[in-house]
Amino acid sequence: MKSKAAILWGTGQPWSVEEIELDAPQHQEVLVRIEAAGMCHSDDHVRLGDGYAALPTIGGHEGAGVIEAVGPGIENLAVGDHVVFSFLPACGRCQWCAIGRSNLCDFGAFLMEGSMISGGYRAHAQGKDVGTLSLVGTFSERTVVHESSIVKIDQDIPFEVACLLGCGVPTGWGSAVNIGEVKPGETVVVVGIGGIGANAVQGARMCGAENIVAIDPVTFKTDQAKILGATHTASSMEEAVPLLQEITRGVMADVGVCTVGIVEGWMIQPFMDLVSKGGRAVLTGMARNVDDSPKLGMQMFSLFEKSLLGTVYGGCNPRADIPKLASLYKSGKLQLDELVTRTYSLDQINEGYADMLAGKNIRGVIVNEF
Ligand SMILES: NC(=O)c1ccc[n+]([C@@H]2O[C@H](COP(=O)([O-])OP(=O)(O)OC[C@H]3O[C@@H](n4cnc5c(N)ncnc54)[C@H](O)[C@@H]3O)[C@@H](O)[C@H]2O)c1
Ligand SMILES: [Zn+2]
Ligand SMILES: [Zn+2]
Repeated sequence: MKSKAAILWGTGQPWSVEEIELDAPQHQEVLVRIEAAGMCHSDDHVRLGDGYAALPTIGGHEGAGVIEAVGPGIENLAVGDHVVFSFLPACGRCQWCAIGRSNLCDFGAFLMEGSMISGGYRAHAQGKDVGTLSLVGTFSERTVVHESSIVKIDQDIPFEVACLLGCGVPTGWGSAVNIGEVKPGETVVVVGIGGIGANAVQGARMCGAENIVAIDPVTFKTDQAKILGATHTASSMEEAVPLLQEITRGVMADVGVCTVGIVEGWMIQPFMDLVSKGGRAVLTGMARNVDDSPKLGMQMFSLFEKSLLGTVYGGCNPRADIPKLASLYKSGKLQLDELVTRTYSLDQINEGYADMLAGKNIRGVIVNEF
């Protein structure tokens, strides 16, 4: 069938919105009509070649939509089901899935290859095979995905917020809840308030943090962070130092979460300086693949017992956490509407990313009209 998608043909090029040809779903695959797709910074990392990704590829890894067809071997999903795409698949069988750490699922090895888990491509354009980023490729009107990349959700959750449950929300929320393990009464600092950092603020709030310091050079971002639970704001890590000293009597933050758009080596030491003795510093933001430049005073690990913790997907387990986060939204405990600053058509994708880089959006969301 014919569809339309935003394709990256070469590193550094803009997204090219054009017609694609989609094959029917094969074994354990489904065809999804994509209603909404979130514009995460990670797709821009891919566009700029900051990490490996096979090209050409249809971009996008946050999305929500409706199943339109199922291939053979699909038992627990049906036409008409509403689903959220998970940017990491969860096979349910590998050792990581079996121990409840599906964010590390072995199927993740296929993430940047573009081809399907079972091999081959379902999308084609200009006579060539085209991959799907993160095994989903949500910057599209329709896509064919393996069942391990989608999670069914209730039908009463609007698509334009549901799409955020496949990356930004769990990654940020889990960075505070699962990796930072924020406890009631603690002080948390979040550096960088985009679609990820905004949810780290919410995760810290839900864990009962007393102080939540949101840092971003853009005032609109820190204003939005206050709506989501930040108690204090600063425009830079430097500016946050005296603020944290004051509110913690010199102790500093129990937990830090770094969610800046492009992590650079020089940022790590000042980030670690924001956390206390015994503190947990969570590095969620992505650096360029080639950047190995951090210079760190190493005695902070052995004398002050500070921890620098990495995370993918905030340690979330998509099959359990996507429905849980959706339920928290429905009960009013998780704010999602506040995250969507502006919606765009698929044709406006490059404008959406320009707005993200200009600091105009917490999240820009593509909404398809059918
Ligand atoms: N680990 C994971 O699983 C995972 C998942 C998704 C995204 N990410 C990464 O998380 C990062 C954030 O993604 P996003 O979509 O929220 O990006 P975004 O561009 O929407 O937000 C980044 C924010 O960081 C701010 N910022 C930049 N430099 C700063 C600095 N020096 N101090 C304070 N704030 C600063 C920007 O103003 C912006 O508001 C990206 O690197 C992305 O690739 C990681
Ligand atoms: Zn993402
Ligand atoms: Zn697995």
